[in-house]
Parts: sequence; C-alpha cells; structure tokens
Amino acid sequence: RDTDVIGHDLLAWYDANARDLPWRVGPAARRAGERPDPYRVWLSEIMLQQTTVAAVRDYFHRFTTRWPTVTALAEAEDAEVMGEWAGLGYYARARNLLKCARVVAGELHGTFPDTREGLLALPGIGPYTAAAVSSIAFDRAETVMDGNVERVMARLFDVHTPLPAAKPELFAHAEALKPLERPGDHAQAVMDLGATICTPRSPACGICPLIGVCTARARGTAPELPKKTPK
Ligand code: ADE
Repeated sequence: RDTDVIGHDLLAWYDANARDLPWRVGPAARRAGERPDPYRVWLSEIMLQQTTVAAVRDYFHRFTTRWPTVTALAEAEDAEVMGEWAGLGYYARARNLLKCARVVAGELHGTFPDTREGLLALPGIGPYTAAAVSSIAFDRAETVMDGNVERVMARLFDVHTPLPAAKPELFAHAEALKPLERPGDHAQAVMDLGATICTPRSPACGICPLIGVCTARARGTAPELPKKTPK
C-alpha cells in the first residue's frame, strides 16, 4: 500500500529529525522502548493548545520542576498554579488543569487513564487531547488531528474542500495513514513535519521526506492548501 510507504518514510524521518522537546524521551530511550511520562505529555498538550512550542518550553520547565507529578500538582493551591500560568493565556485551561489533576490524583490514585475514552471523561480533555495523550504516552492507535495534521493531509492528498467542511475528509486520510506500529511516534512525526517542513507559507518541499508521494507538490498546489472558508 502507498500508505504503508508513507508511514515508513515518515517514521524514518522522525527517527533522524524529531524535535528535542522536554516532554519527549530521546532517540536512544525510544529505541529501548521507553515511553514518555503521561503526566508530562498531558501537561504539554494542554499548554500547547493555542500556544506555540517556543512559548511553552519555559512554562513547562517551571511547572514540572515545581510539581514533578500529577499528585504534587493536585496538592498545589489554586493561586500558585494560576500564578505560574500567568502569561500563557486562556486561563480556563489552567483551572481545568487543576481540576483534572485532582481527579487523577484522587479518584484514579495518581494514574492517568490509558485509553481515549478514559481520558475524554476528565475535565479539560477534549477529542484532540484524548487522542494525543493516548497515542503519545500509551502508543494507542488513535488519530490525532490538529492544524498541522490537517495541512499535511490536505497537501498529501490535494484536498481543495475548504476548512472547516474538509475536516471529516482530512480525518479519514489521517486515519488511513496511521500505522499499527509506533502510532505515538507516527502522530508526533506528522505534527513535526507540519511544524517544521510542511509549513503554512513557503513549505520546504525540497527537504520533505514525502516529496515523492505528495499530490499537491506534484500539482503545484501545496502553498495554497488547505483552503479556508472566509469568515
Ligand atoms: N503540538 C502539539 N503537541 C505536539 C507534539 N506532541 N509534538 C509536536 N507538536 C505538537
């Protein structure tokens, strides 16, 4: 299948080019089968909503230094957490963060659920975060969709339907591409590709691992995709 080739090339690219992010495990640990800490993955995914990786780094470092576990975070005062969050914006995220930490630390005895459904039941965790945490932290074969993934799919398959109408179509493409092996790394590979190569303007097609299979690249439409319905 073409999709198997895409998945394979993408993982090979990720192994050599994964961004070094503080909530990931390094390449050697990854090869040894080590998984990232679900607490750190969850915290990073909440922080990354509406916020860039560059802005999140320092906040993530301060949070995990001060509260290294979900139980430690659950025991923090509301005002301490809101104080550390100051500057990240969207303060409902911080309030839900603390609510979620207290449910996990209390009812769940400090262990995050390892399924999409279990995660979805927690405060502040929607479909994106549930899919991201279950795939990245627990290597479950969930389809993780964010803006980067939508753009990569629109280009790989030359989808001209404008967003948001294109969402189901783009999801179906991402779903078909998802491998059974290393789904967590695959999900992060698509996000990294979208963030570093398949960028909104001036995509770096010349160094893209998928240049040979990208329909938009072949047709010259990559820079104009995805289309958006004017607001
Ligand atoms: N954006 C949101 N979550 C991400 C992740 N785990 N890797 C790369 N980019 C992301």
